[in-house]
Amino acid sequence: FPHKLVLGIETSCDDTAAAVVDDAGHVLGEAMHSQTEVHLKTGGIVPPVAQQLHRENIQRIVEETLSASSISPRDLSAIATTVKPGLALSLGVGLSFSLQLVNQFKKPFIPIHHMEAHALTIRLTNKVEFPFLVLLISGGHCLLALVRGVSDFLLLGKSLDIAPGDMLDKVARRLSLIKHPECSTMSGGKAIEHLAKQGNRFHFTINPPMQNVKNCDFSFTGLQHVIDRLIKHKEKEEGVEKGQILSSAADIAAAVQHTTACHLAKRTHRAILFCKQKNLLSPADAVLVVSGGVASNLYIRRALEIVANATQCTLLCPPPRLCTDNGIMIAWNGIERLHAGLGILHDVEGIRYEPK
Ligand code: KG4
Ligand code: ZN
Repeated sequence: FPHKLVLGIETSCDDTAAAVVDDAGHVLGEAMHSQTEVHLKTGGIVPPVAQQLHRENIQRIVEETLSASSISPRDLSAIATTVKPGLALSLGVGLSFSLQLVNQFKKPFIPIHHMEAHALTIRLTNKVEFPFLVLLISGGHCLLALVRGVSDFLLLGKSLDIAPGDMLDKVARRLSLIKHPECSTMSGGKAIEHLAKQGNRFHFTINPPMQNVKNCDFSFTGLQHVIDRLIKHKEKEEGVEKGQILSSAADIAAAVQHTTACHLAKRTHRAILFCKQKNLLSPADAVLVVSGGVASNLYIRRALEIVANATQCTLLCPPPRLCTDNGIMIAWNGIERLHAGLGILHDVEGIRYEPK
């Protein structure tokens, strides 16, 4: 093989994912097992259950990835695996399995930071040079960072409580959108986006969070409570039982989506201005990358587009399948680290296997 080939393994949360990527950015093969269906039934992720499901699936997923790639582990340049952040029990399964492969095939090991992998994904699909700004918004992530190099991040802001996708999921659950005939199979965020199109965002006015806090942090718990109170009030007013669909559900969805978009856009705007003022970003052709499940929301994307246009930035989003957790981003981060000569371990002695 003339190329460098990296096997990436991701088990930080509820997806068992793997992929082989080469140094030209070609995906040779990938496989994934999602636990979403199981966790939906329990109303959230139960870590020991996630761990058990990772254990049951990891070998098959890695074998499928290697056979789809038509390579043997001997052909690999390195194995890259998410080691943080995430659920300790889930991370342990991927780490333990990877270290077995590493020892068996005598391959270098590249420990991967999950957020670094999300942030660098755009360099697999677009020619983006450092530095660039990244906004990661999903069910579990909410951060704004300046990416100055492969492992050189300046954290500009983060959520002080929950992530925006988590908040949208909670609002959707409170509105019982799962019972709505048009939204029953959608994630909470997607259901909110769908319903908001039929609503009037001016019907309820909700102030964006943290208006008096002049930094780039985020908060979504307060907004969630405001919406909860509004729903309770409307239930009383409409004489509707908790768990039934309100006739004002679409207006509420439009209001929460609008307020979320405003909040994300304002903090991102401040971050761009800060970076430009400090000469951390190019004045004329800076890049703003938005990724994570919430980035697929077109209303939120349009708000961020307005911010990008107003500040002479180019807005880029990875394709949806690369915005959410996947093995490709881990393998690609491995390639980036191989090129940069960063964090490549040739001796994995002493790295802890599965946490007890
Ligand atoms: O990245 P992701 O698949 O998983 C993690 O959370 O890591 O993101 C899932 C989140 C969920 O909270 C979901 O409600 C939200 O992304 N989401 C959306 C949309 N599609 C998914 N939020 C707003 N609008 C959407 N269209
Ligand atoms: Zn993630």
